[in-house]
Amino acid sequence: MATYNYETRPESMARITTKELAEAFIDAQVGEIRKQVGDGKVLLALSGGVDSSVVAALLIKAIGDRLTCVHVNHGLLRKGEPQQVIEVFRNQLGANLVYVDAVDRFLDALAGVADPEKKRKIIGSIFIDVFAEEARKLTDVKFLAQGTIYPDILESKGVKAHHNVGGLPDEFDFELVEPVKFLYKDEVRVVGSALGLPDNMVYRQPFPGPGLGVRCVGAITRDRLESLREADAIVREEIGKLPQKPWQYFCVIPDMQSTGIKDAKRYMGWAVVIRAVNTVDAVTAESFEIPWATLTAIKKRIIATVPGVNRVLWDISDKPLATIEWE
Ligand code: XMP
Repeated sequence: MATYNYETRPESMARITTKELAEAFIDAQVGEIRKQVGDGKVLLALSGGVDSSVVAALLIKAIGDRLTCVHVNHGLLRKGEPQQVIEVFRNQLGANLVYVDAVDRFLDALAGVADPEKKRKIIGSIFIDVFAEEARKLTDVKFLAQGTIYPDILESKGVKAHHNVGGLPDEFDFELVEPVKFLYKDEVRVVGSALGLPDNMVYRQPFPGPGLGVRCVGAITRDRLESLREADAIVREEIGKLPQKPWQYFCVIPDMQSTGIKDAKRYMGWAVVIRAVNTVDAVTAESFEIPWATLTAIKKRIIATVPGVNRVLWDISDKPLATIEWE
């Protein structure tokens, strides 16, 4: 079982705001990692999110293929994400990457489950099972790297639900390697850029651990999930073109149908809900005013290309009372 170290960020540590400062941090961390790990092997759950990606790039620089990255595709990632993890880490950075296609395992377990907390629990526990199975296949791995960042330590005593693997069974006794644990998110991004990671990986918006699973409202079905993934890619692309992007923007697909009309025949179809919010700390959030031209572009593309969808709605609710996610 992994243990946490509740240290505080050294007061003398300058904020990393420039490429030069990031390069100095990278050099120092490469040294620290080599000192900690020696000639040992390290395991990392690589989701493709900013934090785990930066940790992977740092470790690859420090110890090369003595790092094993495990990327679990749970079927709830956004369009193109698993492919990008493989392209960037295996093909470009030469990482020792284990790609696990666990899509059926997750979606089969989630079939018929409508309660959001049950969905989260299933996703979390299957993730641990899959990761533990991969860990058991490896020999002589003493270290587990984690993308813990400073707000995780401040807010939740180091336990990063859904992203990290603090819930591994007791049979594992890994020593943690947490090279970005004193960094704030903006600093992690500066370091990621200095490590050469692509902008769309480094500057991406927050994405919940259970992924599209909590945006495919109610009991997930594969067809509705696929429609959500397609619609989400369109929403992100169109809103992403704005000069001032909101903090988080995505879409949701409620488990609800309404009448549509096609070839003079009535039928039932899904509605896609666009959500875009600005917030500082996600405790409160304000709906972001999406320009009409962007809404229209999104609507046209979704209606023309996303199977099963006949309506596009815009959720203009603030938090509170609405939460950012629908589940
Ligand atoms: P809510 O919906 O509570 O979301 O207003 C606040 C922020 O947290 C994210 N979120 C999650 N992140 N696992 C995560 O890692 C989760 O289960 C989860 N639920 C919500 C949400 O995207 C928003 O940024």
